[in-house]
Amino acid sequence: MNTLLVAKDVKAYYSSPKGFVRAVDGVTLDINPGDVVGVAGESGCGKSTLSNVLMMNVQPPLKFVGGKLILEGVGDLAVMERQKVKAQVWGKVIALVPQSALNALIPTRKVGAFIKDVLGYHLKLDARKASALAQRRFQELGLPVETLAKYPHQLSGGMRQRVVIAIATLLNPKLLIADEPTSALDVSTQKQVLKMFLHLKTEHIVRAIVFITHDIAILRQIATRIAIMYAGKVMEVGPMEAVIQRPVHPYTCSLIRSVLTPEPEVKERGLSHLAGDPPDLLQPPAGCRFHPRCPQSMAICTQEAPPVVGLGKDHFVSCYLVLEGCQC
Ligand SMILES: Nc1ncnc2c1ncn2[C@@H]1O[C@H](COP(=O)(O)OP(=O)(O)O)[C@@H](O)[C@H]1O
Ligand SMILES: [Mg+2]
Repeated sequence: MNTLLVAKDVKAYYSSPKGFVRAVDGVTLDINPGDVVGVAGESGCGKSTLSNVLMMNVQPPLKFVGGKLILEGVGDLAVMERQKVKAQVWGKVIALVPQSALNALIPTRKVGAFIKDVLGYHLKLDARKASALAQRRFQELGLPVETLAKYPHQLSGGMRQRVVIAIATLLNPKLLIADEPTSALDVSTQKQVLKMFLHLKTEHIVRAIVFITHDIAILRQIATRIAIMYAGKVMEVGPMEAVIQRPVHPYTCSLIRSVLTPEPEVKERGLSHLAGDPPDLLQPPAGCRFHPRCPQSMAICTQEAPPVVGLGKDHFVSCYLVLEGCQC
């Protein structure tokens, strides 16, 4: 099967009065049909920027600096006109549930009316067709159809989030990108939202999902693959269980160890706290961006960015310790 989306050495920087903020800086990621790719990393590492860049939603002050974004059956989004990407790709092939999306509904519009507005404006779909589409999708996803006649304030936070996810999938996008869709929710509501994501995949409503969160424990419940981001770069990417059980990059290790409710095998290795803060992306450190905080940093790590090394099937890591033998 063809890869759905290939991001190759993608770079996108914010221009600011102080210079460029290198929020996404050389990200390579393959998204295959059937994948739920989890993207994890501390706040400010570039996750939300990446979610927009993957669908080429790049507007000033963000600037696409380089790389390719090859979408199956469409081509390189990076060289397509924005209007064309908007018309041909957004919502139809790739849909985004942005961070804080549960506040995306309009307070004065009922859910059903909001959907009619959106589909009418973007697709010139008449109200009857829009309504039929919404009813079918809500039923498929186990959402009460009566929700369509409600105002956002009449819905719980979890229900608003599920509604926004359902709306994002109305046109059966091949790829759904969800940015921190569970972060503002309590644990039991998180479970319902996760169930909905699994449903989207098992019912073949979407073919692949990119699920962004700072919470690895959540990812373990849903992701087939995981990409660990640090300071605008992917440090390690691979099959979920392989990365959790045998993390290679020291940053992956510390992230897994700092999960508040560690899995038993992680518990055995003990909790660790990572000293220091992530770097300023206006002036990231030379060499490996993690080296100032890395407990296993070597001389070469301060000078040259490590190469990406493949380890077994679909597992890649960007760290010199791969060659030296990791201690984590
Ligand atoms: N509009 C902007 N202008 C300048 N810098 C920005 C802007 N938006 C985000 N950033 C910076 O880009 C980096 C990545 O941010 P973001 O993608 O939101 O990270 P995350 O989602 O992982 O928390 C951060 O350093 C952030 O301060
Ligand atoms: Mg974010």
